[in-house]
Amino acid sequence: MAHPEADLLPELQEIDLYDPERYRTSSQHPAWARLREQAPMWAQHTPDGDRFWSATRHRDVAAILMDDKRFSSEYGTILAVAKGDIAGGRTINLMDQPHHARVRLPVMRTMSTRVSRERKERVREHVRRAVGDAFSSGEVVDVAAFAIHLPLAAIGDVIGIPRELWPQVPRLAMAGVAPGDPTYSAGGESHTLNNAHLELFSMFSELIQERRRNRRDDVISALLDIDFGGRPLSDHELLLNCYSFAMGAITTTPQVASHLILELCRQPHIWRRLRADPGLVPSAVEEALRWASPTNHLMRRVLAPVRVAGVQLEPGELVCTWVASANRDSAVFDDPDTFDPGRTPNPHLAFGVGAHRCIGGPPAQVVLAVLLEEMLDAVQEMSLAGEVTHMRSNFINGITRLPVLFRPRPGGGAAVGAASMASSR
Ligand code: HEM
Repeated sequence: MAHPEADLLPELQEIDLYDPERYRTSSQHPAWARLREQAPMWAQHTPDGDRFWSATRHRDVAAILMDDKRFSSEYGTILAVAKGDIAGGRTINLMDQPHHARVRLPVMRTMSTRVSRERKERVREHVRRAVGDAFSSGEVVDVAAFAIHLPLAAIGDVIGIPRELWPQVPRLAMAGVAPGDPTYSAGGESHTLNNAHLELFSMFSELIQERRRNRRDDVISALLDIDFGGRPLSDHELLLNCYSFAMGAITTTPQVASHLILELCRQPHIWRRLRADPGLVPSAVEEALRWASPTNHLMRRVLAPVRVAGVQLEPGELVCTWVASANRDSAVFDDPDTFDPGRTPNPHLAFGVGAHRCIGGPPAQVVLAVLLEEMLDAVQEMSLAGEVTHMRSNFINGITRLPVLFRPRPGGGAAVGAASMASSR
């Protein structure tokens, strides 16, 4: 895809980064390109009248996310809760130091790079079950529908969610993040959200009770044993943290798979290049992360006076860092609007950066690599087979429908997976 031409970029007064509907019907990349160029810190109001600044350049986004002393996560990190998140201070992603480290450090070991790579073949078995015969049936498959099952293949065991519950959890999680999207909404937005919360919280509540009796090597058990400044996490804090891990995984990982497959359909030469050189799988996964940037933005609240891109910010102000924009910044990436599966280095910010950098990055990278390896083994060619629909959300860059026809590769083999596994070490 070519770089958006300057005369096709919207004027500043036409830009609205809040309106969720715009993300469903069009790309915001031209707007972000205009802002990076002309207004790298740009103020807008939410429909409720709360002003937020938008940072769109890679260097400003990275600087803000790295500076957790002056930019707080406790107030809330998504625009939808610009009035303040009720879970603030009580769950890992919405905590400042020292509370944050008390939760993060004990849990990290369950999904480190080493542990995640060691689990790769188990993840492959789960992926095969989740994908079924999607690649070989010769029928049109909705990739978005099977991709939502990838996160639990990667991390269901690690969080501690029993396998019999894996089929229903992803849809509830998606309803939790996009209750207004027609794909997940049932009986209205607030009913959908309440129902998703009720179901997920009661599932985790039972699992927590069970782990109180029998600890295992999983996230739920690790959370139960946390020393949270001289006390354990309360029942409510435990629930909120379990929810954060499930949501963190399920709302993001599938989007990388869907955006990658969409691009492979649109640009068959990328697929041919990957087939010719399966050693590109690890860099292709990183490029897919940059390209998809599943979380469009991460919000922070200013704690102390600070200047960003010439703008003076005062305590209490809200700043939205647009990760999706930073990942297309030509100051950092050559040809940022070109999907290059061999791109190295690739300093994308899809997992964030700094103290809150995604804790689930390693398992996400493993499951995406496995998916691509499985496709290389099984698929000859693929093509779009219907309309693609996007999620109505300013937070998640989601695809809700992606009909694809996969043409199976005659007599697929195991050699491809082995080649790319060797190069990912
Ligand atoms: C491609 C997949 C993923 C993407 C793009 C992604 C993206 C992100 C980003 C951008 C952050 C930083 C949030 C912030 O700074 O406010 C984050 C944090 C987090 N992610 Fe992920 N995530 C992915 C997969 C996962 C998985 C598989 C898990 C499951 C364990 C997970 C759980 C979390 C948690 C718990 C946090 C909060 C970490 C902290 O505050 O210390 N994510 N993720």
